[in-house]
Amino acid sequence: MKIFIDSADLNEIKKYLNWGLCQGVTTNPTICLKCGVKGGWEAIKQRTIEIANLIKPRPLSVEVTSVNLEEIIKQAREYSQLAENIAVKITITDNLGNSLLPAIYQLTKEGISINVTAMTTFNQAILAARTLRSGYEEANKKPNFSFISIFGGRISEEQGVEQAFKVIKNTRDWLDCYGFDNIEIIVGSVRTPENVELWSRTGAHILTIPPEVLAKSLLGARTKETVAQFLDDAKKAMEELKK
Ligand code: E4P
Repeated sequence: MKIFIDSADLNEIKKYLNWGLCQGVTTNPTICLKCGVKGGWEAIKQRTIEIANLIKPRPLSVEVTSVNLEEIIKQAREYSQLAENIAVKITITDNLGNSLLPAIYQLTKEGISINVTAMTTFNQAILAARTLRSGYEEANKKPNFSFISIFGGRISEEQGVEQAFKVIKNTRDWLDCYGFDNIEIIVGSVRTPENVELWSRTGAHILTIPPEVLAKSLLGARTKETVAQFLDDAKKAMEELKK
């Protein structure tokens, strides 16, 4: 299972790269804002280039800011020109439930890497996977990455963490059953270390984790106390050895 960093903070990304805990990055405009990116579309593009260079050849997912099919296609083409390792995040539907799959299909056929995002059901996930695969099969230049993002935290808010587990696991089983080998599941909206623990056992290919949740996931109730005891014991042992 890979770990992606759900952040646009260059220092945090560097930190986890140095720990071997960053196999990719996901962002969206809200995350960019939270990470201090200011200056509109140009600033988002600038940060996108910086992150993409920092983590290459690992993938960086960036999100379009429109639900209009033509505008999505335009923005996605523009994003994909910024770096080789960019996957463009497009939501499965718009805010009214209209399908955005026509844009996803078209862009995949053009060889642009897509991350179909904001999904909360098994049906959404398998339909997105089918569209990505159809586009992939018809593309002259194959996309570098194909992702489907299931938002575990958002499912949990209404239906509990176990339902999120089921949706992710069933989707992985379905992908395996039908040999959809080039499509990876990203679990998004991971909110707590408990989410990490549970959803790491679903068979998801990737968990994208905010830096603060990753930091907490490193801590164990008795580890600090155990290390303190080791240090104390070692000091005493060294003193004894000197005698
Ligand atoms: C994933 O790609 C998203 O950036 C992220 O996990 C969304 O999480 P949210 O539910 O906190 O918005």
